[in-house]
Amino acid sequence: MQETIRTLCQTYGPSGSERRVLEEVEKLIAPHVDETRYDLLGNLIARVGSGGRKLMFAAHADEIGLVVHYIDEKGYLRVTPLGGVYHQHLMGRRVEFANGTVGVIGLEQRNVTAGKHDWQNIYVDIGAKDRAAAEKRVKVGDAAAFSRTSVFQDDVVVSKALDDRLGCAVLVEALKKLGGSAENECHFVFTVQEELGCRGARTSAYGITPDAAYAVDVTTTGDTPLSNPMPCNLGEGVAIKMMDGGTVIPTRVRDLMIGLCEANGLPYQREVLRGGTTDVFAIQFTKEGVPIGAVSIPTRYVHQPSEMASLTDTEAAVGLIAALANADHSAI
Ligand code: CO
Ligand code: ZN
Repeated sequence: MQETIRTLCQTYGPSGSERRVLEEVEKLIAPHVDETRYDLLGNLIARVGSGGRKLMFAAHADEIGLVVHYIDEKGYLRVTPLGGVYHQHLMGRRVEFANGTVGVIGLEQRNVTAGKHDWQNIYVDIGAKDRAAAEKRVKVGDAAAFSRTSVFQDDVVVSKALDDRLGCAVLVEALKKLGGSAENECHFVFTVQEELGCRGARTSAYGITPDAAYAVDVTTTGDTPLSNPMPCNLGEGVAIKMMDGGTVIPTRVRDLMIGLCEANGLPYQREVLRGGTTDVFAIQFTKEGVPIGAVSIPTRYVHQPSEMASLTDTEAAVGLIAALANADHSAI
């Protein structure tokens, strides 16, 4: 599990550039699935099991990042966010481009004291002496992701991109646990471009037309100093979503998920997230509608360069996904 998390988190994959992550996933799941394919938008879809109902499990392969929109004559890169990046979190951080070029994020010095802190006052410094030198490494339109190592310490993992490589790792580990068979026809989808509005989930769900669908993604916690009230805490189990900014989970689906946690001795907590959503937001609107559920992993510092989550909660999520893949869905 730890090596799966590390491999997936350390691989470069901002929205629109997920292919390396998907290729790593493909290597890990190949022995445990009947077939894998890519759809035209770039989602990786793996099938396992037969009979029962057609289920879809989605985790997004993309991570937030920055896109170069202008390179000035001195070789500094001006950037625009790719997904929900907050400029307040960026000073002094490192980012990395697809070709390995590393940059440091700076704030124009006079604006540090002036307190002007916004996208137009931020730049990425790759140490180039002028525009021509910079363009040998990076071009307008290139995407960078945060550059951070993954650390395992007691029960927590600290890494960039836990959103949502942790969800991808949960699907990979659930496939291993299923060992190549399931009571339902299961489509495990590693989606693209979630951070830009669940785009990959939309097309892959249309192609699959599932009878029910589940997303695995991170959620926030209420256990840091002066945090907003939030019922999820690190290490207290997998979070079963009741509702978020874009979905309300049908009661029969939540009841199924809670029942499976109780039957399998998996620690769980109930989740209501007041903002934000997951891939099942898009999936629920497919064709005539799809019943949805969402498995969340409580995570501190979501969308910041270092996110933190619990291995206990992640293991429980693996158990729940494997149980759902085999669960009777005739009443859903
Ligand atoms: Co996210
Ligand atoms: Zn996410």
